[in-house]
Amino acid sequence: MVATLHSVRKSPDAEGDDYKTLIGMARATSDHAFNATIWDVLVDPSYQGQGLGKALVEKMIRALLQRDIGNISLFADSKVVDFYQNLGFEPDPEGIKGMFWHPK
Ligand SMILES: CC(C)(COP(=O)(O)OP(=O)(O)OC[C@H]1O[C@@H](n2cnc3c(N)ncnc32)[C@H](O)[C@@H]1OP(=O)(O)O)[C@@H](O)C(=O)NCCC(=O)NCCS
Repeated sequence: MVATLHSVRKSPDAEGDDYKTLIGMARATSDHAFNATIWDVLVDPSYQGQGLGKALVEKMIRALLQRDIGNISLFADSKVVDFYQNLGFEPDPEGIKGMFWHPK
């Protein structure tokens, strides 16, 4: 699932196409049963601090819940842990740890 945010500038010409610019996105992968992971939550720096990132994540949560997917996880950079905690995410529920494998 991909959610996108666009800024839309009306064409001065009544018949002309509007100008759409991508200013934010979020992505989720899921098993279509119980679990989803949110990735790549991004808002263009010139549009940050206006509630758009929060709206994007809340929209994604609502869309997943509508599909009965209620077990939602993500990986948070240390700079955005508070952002996600504000949205109801908690670190390491039930002692679950993210684990990584790297080629040695
Ligand atoms: C993180 C990001 C998506 C937030 O988007 P945003 O549109 O600026 O955030 P919002 O304006 O919706 O902020 C919602 C709330 O979170 C808070 N917040 C925003 N960024 C925060 C941060 N880095 N740390 C803590 N709180 C933050 C805001 O103050 C606001 O609080 P409020 O509801 O009490 O007013 C955006 O800064 C971004 O794209 N960052 C670069 C990419 C990135 O790090 N993505 C996360 C990948 S793990």
